[in-house]
Amino acid sequence: MTTPVPPVASVNSLPADDQSILLAAQWLRQGRLVAFPTETVYGLGASCTDESALARLYALKGRPGDNPLIAHVATPGEVGLVACPTPRQAGMLADLGRRFWPGPLTMVLPRGPGMSPSATGGRDTVAVRCPAHPVARALLTAFGAPIAAPSANRSGHISPTSAAHVLADFANASELLVIDGGPSRVGVESTVVDLVADPPRLLRPGSVLPEQLVEALGEIDTTPMSAQGASPGTAARHYSPRTPALLLDLAGLRQALAERREPCAVVATSDLDVPRPHGRMSMPKDAEAYAARLYAVLREVDQAGFSAILIERPPSRVGLWSTILDRLERATTTA
Ligand code: TXA
Ligand code: MG
Repeated sequence: MTTPVPPVASVNSLPADDQSILLAAQWLRQGRLVAFPTETVYGLGASCTDESALARLYALKGRPGDNPLIAHVATPGEVGLVACPTPRQAGMLADLGRRFWPGPLTMVLPRGPGMSPSATGGRDTVAVRCPAHPVARALLTAFGAPIAAPSANRSGHISPTSAAHVLADFANASELLVIDGGPSRVGVESTVVDLVADPPRLLRPGSVLPEQLVEALGEIDTTPMSAQGASPGTAARHYSPRTPALLLDLAGLRQALAERREPCAVVATSDLDVPRPHGRMSMPKDAEAYAARLYAVLREVDQAGFSAILIERPPSRVGLWSTILDRLERATTTA
């Protein structure tokens, strides 16, 4: 069945119903771009084999051509369409897939013919994820093939956790459909693990934690990748607000507030006093709630015209807090 596609001159946001999903699948088949919700962050999708759609995706995001995209699949059984794992990798894929898919885990494997080399920055590997969000899964099923999608933000900016964030970054795009599936539940990007490396290597921390990967795989390499170029998107400065941002402990935060005359935004879990002209965003003390809220808060304070964003160090480095700390360090580094 084909659904008539209305002319879209610019960016259109649609509610996540059956009709929108059919329309979006058709849109992808016609070589256009669709932003869609996943449980981590929103993705900006194109067909994995449509060269001109992929070229437009890189151009729209402003993403360097050597930074590879994630291939999203509707079911673990579809991995073979985009990847050719060795028997050793297939064993790890099956084990991790049973534990964490559908969900916020991305695995790097040898690239197969169903993923264009231009979507992997010319690499012979491909990152694959089977997302859990019902709208992402419905879109993948309706499209009937894997979808290549980076996070739906302009390159280097904060990942979007709502349709409004996508619209804010791509207000001037032509021919972009955004499916509005509400706020993302997890709020930080997926964990990326490279199964081609031996032992497997953690490329990006996420809500699937290193200790959970160790439990499944026995051994993993967690050396930070930022300096080594193994995953271009893990360069130190990333996920950044435009306003200068600093990561401080509580004492440093108090001192900065006392010294600074220009209005600053304070993003903190502690109940500290924030005197005028500064502004305060209270953050949840629970790591899951904090992660789900973080990018929306950074975008909000970035818009509000403060001279700086002062972020209190998270109360812990354990579990999901270690992933949150990774993102805060990237948001606040000047490198
Ligand atoms: O949660 C997520 O992963 C979201 C949703 C939309 O799935 N996607 C996302 O994509 O964050 P992106 O492109 O913003 O980040 C993907 C990361 C980048 O750091 C990229 O360099 C890395 O994965 N990556 C992708 N393919 C790779 C490959 N073949 N080898 C090494 N790293 C790869
Ligand atoms: Mg991204």
